[in-house]
Amino acid sequence: MQTGSQNGVQNGCPINKEGEEFNPYRNWRRPDLPSRCTYGRSKDSPHSNKSCPKPVRPKILNSVLDNIAGTPMIRLNNIGKSEGLKCEILAKCEFFQPGGSLKDRIALRMIEDAEEKGFIKPGATIIEPSSGNTGIGVAMVCAVKGYRCIIVMPQRMSLEKVATMKALGAEIYRTANGIPFDQPESHVGVARRLMEEIPNSFLLDQYRNPSNPLAHYDGTAEEILDACDNKLDMVVIGTGTGGTLTGVARKIKERCPNCKIVAVDPEGSLIAEPAELNQKGKKFEVEGIGKDFVPTACDRQFVDKWYKAADKESFQMARRIVREEGLLVGGSSGTALHYGIQAMKDFGLKEGQRCVVIFVDSIRNYMTRFLNDEWMGERGYLEDEEEEPSK
Ligand SMILES: Cc1ncc(COP(=O)(O)O)c(C=O)c1O
Repeated sequence: MQTGSQNGVQNGCPINKEGEEFNPYRNWRRPDLPSRCTYGRSKDSPHSNKSCPKPVRPKILNSVLDNIAGTPMIRLNNIGKSEGLKCEILAKCEFFQPGGSLKDRIALRMIEDAEEKGFIKPGATIIEPSSGNTGIGVAMVCAVKGYRCIIVMPQRMSLEKVATMKALGAEIYRTANGIPFDQPESHVGVARRLMEEIPNSFLLDQYRNPSNPLAHYDGTAEEILDACDNKLDMVVIGTGTGGTLTGVARKIKERCPNCKIVAVDPEGSLIAEPAELNQKGKKFEVEGIGKDFVPTACDRQFVDKWYKAADKESFQMARRIVREEGLLVGGSSGTALHYGIQAMKDFGLKEGQRCVVIFVDSIRNYMTRFLNDEWMGERGYLEDEEEEPSK
């Protein structure tokens, strides 16, 4: 995504100010520089697009990495109806990925793009700051390929994610909650320090690595369009790094220019536009979405409307998706569907129209969180939840 002259990197010239070779994985750049993405298929694009057709799987796979992508699209049959909607609602079920989330796609793409360019070599240490799902994906790829893996994650993220990453052999560093991203003690700052201290280490940096949105431009979006035969009226996407939004929205607007792109950002996060929607400093508990900066990987130009999301509505809807649709999703899927339903009503989607909502991760990450009545009750998230019918 960087094509200009930041840090001395000139267009097409990988030499930095000091005359050393520029290595995007070892030369630090802020993760909140404006998006300057030109990765459409123009001849000036600095990026290599890949054809990623929906995989046709052989009976025996060579490794778990061959099971990444190709997730199912599943119709929601109950929740839309009970909300009075007549349009079709489809869930892109990324929680069926082998690592449990859509982030498996970007973990594999970021590592393989860097390997292809010769930046990552055998014996390397891969470092990544993550709210957990990218960490799990990166740890899984490193386990298969034999790289040492270090994940830096804020304290507030669930212990279930830490347990999974440790089982995959990753070393985990936890950072205190609420530290601004540009401070050395933040998860971004600690990852950067480790990269500078550890020889032969590489910081993938999903916040600015173009392979993040490209995985969705070439993969996720193509799969959505294929499942819908290029006929869709709305897509709803939660934002963290903004990589999913950037890649999916760009491809879908190219192919279906009338499709509405709805983006959902938690209260307290600073990604939504216009900026007046955002409330700096407000805490939020849904994991994976929301940031205290706008990541470089996030290109907001294709968004038709932003919604700000509350935790309670998100977790209650995630429980409804499990209970009423039988889909074992995580909290941010509840966020996307709750505010997606609002958007379908606001835009007046009718019978015969179709909305796709992306369900990013799985229930496995949150056994002690929104699945737990005590955890929900202590925070007031159970209030107004529909009572179970008495037996
Ligand atoms: C559970 C969950 N939902 C949504 C997202 C947002 O995806 P993106 O980073 O592509 O914006 C993430 C990102 O980590 C996530 O973990």
